[in-house]
Amino acid sequence: MKVAVAGTGYVGLVTAVCLAEIGHEVTCVDVDQKKIECLQAGKCPIYEPELENLMHQNKERLTYTLDYQRAYQNADVIFVGVGTPERYDGSANLDYVYTVCRQIKETVQKDTVVVIKSTVPIGTNDELEKWFNDNSTVHFYIVSNPEFLAQGTAVHDTLYPARIVVGVQEDYSKEIMAKLYYPLTVAPYLAPYLEMDRKSAEMVKYASNDFLALKISYINEIANFCEKIGADIERVTQGMSYDKRIGDKFLNAGIGYGGSCFPKDTKALHWLSQSLDCELKTIKACIEVNKNQRIKLFEKARSDFDNQLNGKKVAILGLSFKPNTDDLREAPSIDNVRLLLDYGAIVHVYDPIAMDNFRRLFQDEVFYFDSIDQAIKDTDMVFIMTEAEEFRKYDLNKYRTLMKTPRIYDGRNCYDLIAAEKAHLYYYSIGRRTVDNG
Ligand SMILES: NC(=O)c1ccc[n+]([C@@H]2O[C@H](COP(=O)([O-])OP(=O)(O)OC[C@H]3O[C@@H](n4cnc5c(N)ncnc54)[C@H](O)[C@@H]3O)[C@@H](O)[C@H]2O)c1
Repeated sequence: MKVAVAGTGYVGLVTAVCLAEIGHEVTCVDVDQKKIECLQAGKCPIYEPELENLMHQNKERLTYTLDYQRAYQNADVIFVGVGTPERYDGSANLDYVYTVCRQIKETVQKDTVVVIKSTVPIGTNDELEKWFNDNSTVHFYIVSNPEFLAQGTAVHDTLYPARIVVGVQEDYSKEIMAKLYYPLTVAPYLAPYLEMDRKSAEMVKYASNDFLALKISYINEIANFCEKIGADIERVTQGMSYDKRIGDKFLNAGIGYGGSCFPKDTKALHWLSQSLDCELKTIKACIEVNKNQRIKLFEKARSDFDNQLNGKKVAILGLSFKPNTDDLREAPSIDNVRLLLDYGAIVHVYDPIAMDNFRRLFQDEVFYFDSIDQAIKDTDMVFIMTEAEEFRKYDLNKYRTLMKTPRIYDGRNCYDLIAAEKAHLYYYSIGRRTVDNG
């Protein structure tokens, strides 16, 4: 099939490349000239494991362009995968989606299926259906097809999805979507394919993301309580996870969720529920818990040093919102670094992947290093913000030998407490006793 994809970000590009992998002819459109030039040169503009390889393997079926008219006019199906960031009040900003839709409407001269992959509030796809077909000589079939990929495993998540959810209401678009995704529903991929009405499909996306965010906030609150009463969150979650109803996923206590989805999707659903006078109180609590959790390392260090962080050298290990991505959107590192700078601390930073993006944000306000060893040298304390493998495997004795004082504030519980004791560290982690063996 001939497919166009609007947006070559984490969702759009991965979708496009995976659709090419299963045999479709895909044209990718973006407004970002640098991204398109990079793609045309055969390079992937974002860090996502396996993506560049797959781009090369399918290069015959992939085209990249700034020219949306060229892309949309001949497509059988047009995917919309542009951003839906949060507005100041927490609601979803649909400006990018509507811009693409306007471009589609003014370009397309034949009946076309438009698939909304961007995460949009419940009811948006029905509104779009009306908006598109109002005063139009051709018919637009609007399909809600929410995306569930996670950054860092996006290619695998797209080729082997836990489910494909398609909100589709007309026979023609039902047939087209089933044909488009057929290769993913058979071996070796075997994805469950769920057809439903558009509103329910939109709701599946929010309900799923918000449930996962809630699970994180819940376990973080339990972890904070464990600290107070002297229980160990790692033992607690181990004990909980044997119950199959609970499972062992998303039970890692830490400094909260970030990224481009959970923060905005919790706020957007909460905003929508409030606007309909039906507030979702669990989601409200989830957002509030996360807000405090994100700055827990800073607050602990501030209290340990009696507010005197001026001139202290702090190394930040891990800048992205999670390992294996260069994405800094809503990364807890940003809040912690801002607060440390406000308190007069000298900040060293290191991340295996996200350094360039961080440099664009903080420029010369912080010091950049190429390795853990260099970043922690002569520092007063270290904040660990992600559980990158490189941090988890780091020799704990080096903290003692390289740092001025071996004080570790670990937001991702990377180390065993006994190992921290043996390495003679001060080691604060989330929901566990603090080791003070420095
Ligand atoms: N990132 C994720 O992990 C993830 C997962 C599931 C769902 N989503 C949802 O998918 C959507 C996209 O997220 P993302 O992370 O890929 O965003 P992104 O910011 O990485 O990418 C969006 C892209 O759209 C481009 N764009 C903007 N206007 C355009 C236009 N008129 N025509 C063509 N391209 C245009 C931008 O230049 C950018 O490259 C959001 O609604 C998000 O909530 C994201």
